[in-house]
Amino acid sequence: MAIQQWHDVLFSQGFGTRRVCAGLVQQGFVSHAGVVIEDGTDTVETEQLQFEVQGVSWAYHDSAYLVLHKPSGYECSQKPSLYPSIYTLLPAPLRQRGGGAAAGVQAVGRLDQDTTGLLVLSDDGKFIHRLTSPKHHVPKVYEVTTKHPVDATQIERLLGGVVLDDSPKPVAAFAAEQTGECALRLTLTEGKYHQVKRMLAAVSNRVEGLHRSRMGDLTLDGLPSGEWRWLTPAEVVAVSQKTK
Ligand code: URA
Repeated sequence: MAIQQWHDVLFSQGFGTRRVCAGLVQQGFVSHAGVVIEDGTDTVETEQLQFEVQGVSWAYHDSAYLVLHKPSGYECSQKPSLYPSIYTLLPAPLRQRGGGAAAGVQAVGRLDQDTTGLLVLSDDGKFIHRLTSPKHHVPKVYEVTTKHPVDATQIERLLGGVVLDDSPKPVAAFAAEQTGECALRLTLTEGKYHQVKRMLAAVSNRVEGLHRSRMGDLTLDGLPSGEWRWLTPAEVVAVSQKTK
């Protein structure tokens, strides 16, 4: 049970500054179960709360955990240099929730601008830290399309470990299987910069297409490219599943 004033609900869910949130109520833009909220100091139970702001339905979430199907041609940065930011694919409340300087959801790790697929975002700092920590070996599965045919020697080397320029210790794939003449499925438990591309280059091949299909036990499950959805509590656990 958690009871909050409407002003606080709107602010915490990312509907703007306290002044903007007060204005939304004053103008009759906020409603709950078909009834317009007249007074922002009225209280409401936030568990399972659904409400409407300017006719758009919104679900209350204490913390935000979501998955985005990242399209190609988007940067995972808040301040992109060449391509639009993935954050432009999210509604404004998700980018503003919590208020303050570090407001909004943040991506858990990054995908290159030309990589597509599963990206988790959250505003729960501990969750992000845990999943991005080098100690936390959450498996990430990549579907890789290569320029040159894949062969058994390349798979063996990827599994045995290849040397990358920023690490004296060889880096090995947790799993690697050929899925086509120029295609393989690679499972990694670390998240080094350009790791898939550099590992493929180390075995004299080259990545032409890269798609992340899984993180822990979480998959995109039919989510169309460019779209996002909330994670269920079970999926928040699934995304943290380590290698067995
Ligand atoms: N490895 C890469 O090289 N790029 C990505 O986007 C993700 C993993």
